[in-house]
Amino acid sequence: MSKLKIGIIGSGGIAQGCHMPGYASMPDRCQIVAIADTNLETAKQAADKFDVAQVFSDYRELLAIKEIDAVSIATPNAHHKQPTIDALICGKHVLCEKPMAMNA
Ligand SMILES: NC(=O)c1ccc[n+]([C@@H]2O[C@H](COP(=O)([O-])OP(=O)(O)OC[C@H]3O[C@@H](n4cnc5c(N)ncnc54)[C@H](O)[C@@H]3O)[C@@H](O)[C@H]2O)c1
Repeated sequence: MSKLKIGIIGSGGIAQGCHMPGYASMPDRCQIVAIADTNLETAKQAADKFDVAQVFSDYRELLAIKEIDAVSIATPNAHHKQPTIDALICGKHVLCEKPMAMNA
């Protein structure tokens, strides 16, 4: 079985503390291939830590990568909805941090 290719959108506390270690713990099943964070320094630091090749400040560049199967959305609450919708439109599976949006 081929590895699931993962993108990380928002690479702060919860991404580096939970999402990324989780993916990294299953190297035979998945691989983090790109990180997007509006703070490029945070993205680069996470990329160094988890050996990720590609970093972007605009998550739409990450979503344009065809090989990415699934994304973690680990941005602040107000920035969950739009990346989630955009990722789904791009055909990605989405794992979104809670809450999914600011209201129903
Ligand atoms: N930290 C925790 O223990 C924890 C636990 C449960 C849930 N969460 C949830 O996880 C989410 C993130 O929390 P955190 O503590 O990791 O916050 P954080 O501030 O540490 O990290 C969020 C990151 O997202 C980036 N970002 C902001 N807007 C962005 C955008 N539009 N596109 C790409 N990147 C963007 C920020 O630059 C930052 O690096 C929140 O919804 C929070 O409720 C956090």
